[in-house]
Amino acid sequence: MDNPFLVFAHSLIRYGVLITVAWAGLVHLRGLLFKRPILTYERAMSIVAMVLCHVQLVIGLILYLMNFKQYAMMQGPEGRFWKMEHIGTMVIAIALVTIGRSTAKRAQDEQVKQKRIAIFYLIALALMLWAIPWPFTQLGHGRSWL
Ligand code: HEM
Repeated sequence: MDNPFLVFAHSLIRYGVLITVAWAGLVHLRGLLFKRPILTYERAMSIVAMVLCHVQLVIGLILYLMNFKQYAMMQGPEGRFWKMEHIGTMVIAIALVTIGRSTAKRAQDEQVKQKRIAIFYLIALALMLWAIPWPFTQLGHGRSWL
């Protein structure tokens, strides 16, 4: 039982999440490596990334609960992907972004803040890129880019 609007929203927000998590992770890494202060827009980007992740989590959970009966009957790699791998990996990735942001916020030192965001956000980004059913993959075959 699919909801085309929710699937479209989840698919679209995917790009917002990937761009903001990558952008925040990379600018904080640059700040760390070149010992630059954190600029206001860089801090704002890390917050926007976390908010988009949380929105994606809520939409994903609704989709998962709506489709669970269907997934429960699926076998093989596709069943494993939709029952566990996508939701499991994405929940870990979203948790890493949330931990990165909250521990950076609590840190006193700018360099420590930059290190926390850079490490947690870029690891989360790698996990998300792996767990997305891209159209060029076997699991994403037949799905569109949007
Ligand atoms: C930042 C994290 C996430 C990203 C980038 C992401 C990305 C995607 C993408 C690109 C699709 C395919 C949409 C399409 O066919 O057009 C998808 C489908 C789906 N995602 Fe996620 N997802 C994320 C997190 C989650 C979470 C946390 C859950 C569950 C709690 C979830 C549950 C689902 C479900 C159930 C579908 C299948 C929708 C359907 O075809 O009916 N996603 N996700």
